[in-house]
Amino acid sequence: MIDLKDQIDLKKLPRHVAVIMDGNGRWAAIHGKERVFGHQNGVTSVRETAEAAAELGIEFLTLYAFSTENWNRPPDEVEALMSLLVNTIHSEMDTLYKNNIRLNAIGDLDSLKPGTKAELLNAIEQTKDHERMVMTLALSYSSRWEITNAMRKIAEKVQNGNLKAEEITDQTIANQLATATMPDPELLIRTSGEFRLSNYLLWQIAYSELYFTSTLWPDFRRKDFYKALIDFQKRERRFGKTSDQIKAGLARP
Ligand code: IPE
Ligand code: IPE
Ligand code: MG
Repeated sequence: MIDLKDQIDLKKLPRHVAVIMDGNGRWAAIHGKERVFGHQNGVTSVRETAEAAAELGIEFLTLYAFSTENWNRPPDEVEALMSLLVNTIHSEMDTLYKNNIRLNAIGDLDSLKPGTKAELLNAIEQTKDHERMVMTLALSYSSRWEITNAMRKIAEKVQNGNLKAEEITDQTIANQLATATMPDPELLIRTSGEFRLSNYLLWQIAYSELYFTSTLWPDFRRKDFYKALIDFQKRERRFGKTSDQIKAGLARP
């Protein structure tokens, strides 16, 4: 059997892959454990996915770790997730160094406890010169929060006379998003068999290929990431054009 990795065309890799890491609670229930056990086991999946992506040459990996809406979970689960975040930052520093991965975060970081935020910013600072891949954690993130903030910043510019309403383009908006320095994700993966976006990167995924797998996040391994990439590479990305146009080489660059 040909290795899954060998089936990936390295010349047609997405530059940016976004992941909705879902199914930790259900995984824990299957194993007769508390939800937090699922979150803890999800760390191995994060490590495998990050290493696989970096080794292949993917430039940006953006992981949905905690949504704005997740603050509504029971306080002990929220607390456990925040402690896990801090512990994981410590324990995985070595992975970030070994693989030359730069850590980044998007979301309302001011809503984190000061200590948690400080640990996160410290890890971001320590890895700022790593060049192989940027791994962004979406933390206390939601797309509507991000777009609302962007609109406020644009409105301020208009109000101050620094921008005219008719000068606003889609690039003006993209520039005010937390992802301003990244290309849009070409591929979005969601685990656990849910077919929804849960307020994730709604602007940025306008033309992303969506890949859904029933695998629960703590079971997600390198091979599952490779499968998603192989599936992605079989798709024809048309950007509104016809298949014939794409085949004739008229695809948008
Ligand atoms: C994803 O797993 C992790 C977070 C949202 C933080 P869940 O905790 O949502 O697991 P399920 O969906 O309940 O199985
Ligand atoms: C989305 O998962 C958020 C993260 C993966 C961090 P959820 O499990 O919170 O999504 P919903 O609530 O089922 O849509
Ligand atoms: Mg879930």
